[in-house]
Amino acid sequence: MTSIIATDAWRALAGHRDTTASDTIADLFAADGDRFKNNSWELDGVLLDLSKNRIDYAAWDGLLALAEDAGVTAARDAMYAGETINTTEGRKVLHVALRDGTGIADAGVAEDVTATMARLAAFTQAIHDGSLTGRTGKPFRHVINIGIGGSHLGPMLTAEALGRADYPEVRFAANVDGHDLTAALANVDPETTLFLVGSKSFTTQETLTNAASAARWLTEAVGSNAVSGHFAALTAKPDAAKAFGIAAQHIFPIWDWVGGRFSLWSAVGLPSALAMGWSAFAAMLDGAHSMDRHFRDAPLAVNLPVRLALAGIWNINMEGLGALAVVPYDERLRSLPAFIQQLDMESNGKGVTQTGAPLDVAAAPIVFGLAGTNAQHTFHQWLHQGPLGAAVEFIGVARPDHGFSGHHDKLIANLLAQAEALALGTDGDGDVNRACSGNRPSTTILLEALDPKRLGMLLALYEHKVFVQGVIWGINSFDQFGVELGKQLAARLLPDMGEAPTGARTYDPSTAGLLARYRSWRGLPE
Ligand code: F6P
Repeated sequence: MTSIIATDAWRALAGHRDTTASDTIADLFAADGDRFKNNSWELDGVLLDLSKNRIDYAAWDGLLALAEDAGVTAARDAMYAGETINTTEGRKVLHVALRDGTGIADAGVAEDVTATMARLAAFTQAIHDGSLTGRTGKPFRHVINIGIGGSHLGPMLTAEALGRADYPEVRFAANVDGHDLTAALANVDPETTLFLVGSKSFTTQETLTNAASAARWLTEAVGSNAVSGHFAALTAKPDAAKAFGIAAQHIFPIWDWVGGRFSLWSAVGLPSALAMGWSAFAAMLDGAHSMDRHFRDAPLAVNLPVRLALAGIWNINMEGLGALAVVPYDERLRSLPAFIQQLDMESNGKGVTQTGAPLDVAAAPIVFGLAGTNAQHTFHQWLHQGPLGAAVEFIGVARPDHGFSGHHDKLIANLLAQAEALALGTDGDGDVNRACSGNRPSTTILLEALDPKRLGMLLALYEHKVFVQGVIWGINSFDQFGVELGKQLAARLLPDMGEAPTGARTYDPSTAGLLARYRSWRGLPE
């Protein structure tokens, strides 16, 4: 495939950008009373407002032409048809089947999904009604999920968003830093604690280390046979889970066609189901499925994930904004920025295209974020006046689920005000220190409520956005080879960290110096 910047569609878009560079977001609003109406799209309680991006109608036409030209429609259809679109790993990409196996051509996939969902539902029910107990016959009161990356962020985000206080408390230990497991185990009773080991590969160092320590902690208190009664595994490697001591009936499969960062919807989502209840988890899957159907069937021009992706392409590649702030104005979505960070940056943070040619445009923004309004008191100064600038995606929820009056209108007023300030700015009454340039793009996603359905829709919206952008950049969004080298080097460093360093390796001077100081501060021999 020709380099994307050599295509007619890309050149036309870049040319249009150059000729309209001086038009501001304020100009676009001033010239068009229908700008909001014509630049926002709604699907079943999810409103996507792209009108505060500096994108005019001709730019939209150019972006849609680029999407067609890059083969977004064909790539989308290939994903749904179960083609091996993860070419470097030789895998299908079928997380959409987890939301509705019946829509997928491969009958085996549908059967696997249906059977596993039934087992997960029964397990969740048995924990909640107390019929499945720990070794000493007591019902489980705490669930500790041990997993990292995709086996952590999605389950944690959704458990925080929709977890219920009347179900066992679900905690998370991800980091190999023992402080994380220490915090997860604080004040829990081993007899009433269930551990979930979420690891697609069942080889991840952090997860296996935490699982082994948790198993020791448990067996010291409950007895040597405790693991089989208090551990479950969510994995594509059931034999490894069995070898760890986990009972076959507590091993829930995932498959190689589910990418780690897309695995929330599979057995990896069990902590989420335990936190919110099976019917809510199923409703979240249904919500994701309704976004899937929309993504699959709607023409590109009215397709929410496609429009969101294209606004991102414009901001990154045409406006040169290499960063994306994700700011949910809802404390329950506080982990959304981290979830999207992995989804976006691990999927599209690549340097080569599908053909192996070097990527010659910017791809995958630096994603960062924090819940609003907290974010306003940290990095919003930089958003409004910093010279680098970023595109922003605000997420708000219309109907709160708490009973405190006077909070929610303030919260959403702040969201709207931030987007308005970024777009329109102020001259600061002539004071240069107070002036804000405005003309800084933002997108607002407003949900009618933070219910399971809308949460599922929101997360699927982002999954498909990332996919569409990957297609346009010509990237395989489904591998992650860039994380391997560091893992290998850590494994090779480990023997030199303890009492008796092997001395077999030589290091660069910086690594050698840091290692020596680490060893001396730990009181280890030179
Ligand atoms: O960070 C690399 C990665 O492979 C992620 O893609 C994945 O979500 C995470 O590690 C955890 O992997 P696993 O579920 O196999 O333990």
